[in-house]
Amino acid sequence: MSTPLLSVKDMRITFHVNGGRDQLHAVDGVSFDLASGESLGIIGESGSGKSTIARAVLSLLRITRGEITMEGKTIVTPQSPGKPGNYGVQIIFQDPHAALNPRSKIIRSLVEPLEIQGKGNASSRRDMALEMLAKVGINRALADRYPHELSGGQKQRINIARALLLRPKILVADEATAALDVSIQADILNLYKDLQDEFGLSFIVITHDLAVASYVSDRIAVMYLGRFVELGPSATLATKSAHPYTRALMSAEPEALPRRLQKQDRLVLRGEIPSPVTPPSGCRFRTRCPIATDLCAAEAPPWREMSPGHYSACHFAEEVMAGKPLDGSDKPQNLESVK
Ligand SMILES: Nc1ncnc2c1ncn2[C@@H]1O[C@H](COP(=O)(O)OP(=O)(O)O)[C@@H](O)[C@H]1O
Ligand code: SF4
Ligand SMILES: [Mg+2]
Repeated sequence: MSTPLLSVKDMRITFHVNGGRDQLHAVDGVSFDLASGESLGIIGESGSGKSTIARAVLSLLRITRGEITMEGKTIVTPQSPGKPGNYGVQIIFQDPHAALNPRSKIIRSLVEPLEIQGKGNASSRRDMALEMLAKVGINRALADRYPHELSGGQKQRINIARALLLRPKILVADEATAALDVSIQADILNLYKDLQDEFGLSFIVITHDLAVASYVSDRIAVMYLGRFVELGPSATLATKSAHPYTRALMSAEPEALPRRLQKQDRLVLRGEIPSPVTPPSGCRFRTRCPIATDLCAAEAPPWREMSPGHYSACHFAEEVMAGKPLDGSDKPQNLESVK
């Protein structure tokens, strides 16, 4: 297999909380590869550790264990957190206003990073910026407007243009469409697909929204309480999920699925995600899992390859994959059937 573009190896990120007395295990042993031109979705409820992964990949925080490599070269270790933006990763955040200076015209926000990097001269920087605006579907007449004169969708396209001007290999979108109307959201997701084709750009699309991940991702990683619980091709996860948590996320958003799967029993995920300071023993999902057994409390399920490229961490992955009903009869307090 060729060297992956990005490789995250057994990454752990622990925060010291409560005045340093406790450790919060935000990311607890995550590994994944990203191929050139690939789009990887990372989904999971709020608090599962998705943004912490993004910040690590951007070198915005120090990792506790593991390493990140880019094209085989080590770029981030616990000893050396790397330099943001130095190796071709850019990020788009949820808030479209955040990266744009409200007192500057759009064109200023676009050329500024080029200036900082010493690229071109004033006139060529402006040309580059205007050209990039066209690529993200923004009329160049808007370049001389101020952020408050634009819609959220337009601003998010400008943020994408701004990131692309730095010629990244990877664009990380952290809930980048979550604040937008559904139709605008679809336009931006289509833009990701166009950019993936045109620039051979790789994406890490972080979202709590399965429909978003399914639409744009070649593969999806499902994250729960600091760990990946399932990873595989998007189509495989939709049709042959091998983890109860993924099944629960899917039944919360049946419209994201192919129609024939929408008929499966719908499971409502009950209760809160436990604290990452004191995660449950064994399988972290066991306190909310309808088919948990004593084994799940005693032993953490190993990460197993169920079919080529499809991984799951569940003691009963085979049964789940074969369509075992998760009707909540074992633990109705956690998941309820709403057929
Ligand atoms: N700087 C920090 N200090 C302490 N805890 C943090 C910090 N950043 C994130 N966390 C905690 O780490 C966990 C994962 O957070 P996050 O990565 O933002 O999750 P997600 O993006 O999936 O919602 C949460 O419990 C969050 O409160
Ligand atoms: S290992 Fe047990 S608790 Fe965890 S998801 Fe599988 S069945 Fe549920
Ligand atoms: Mg987040």
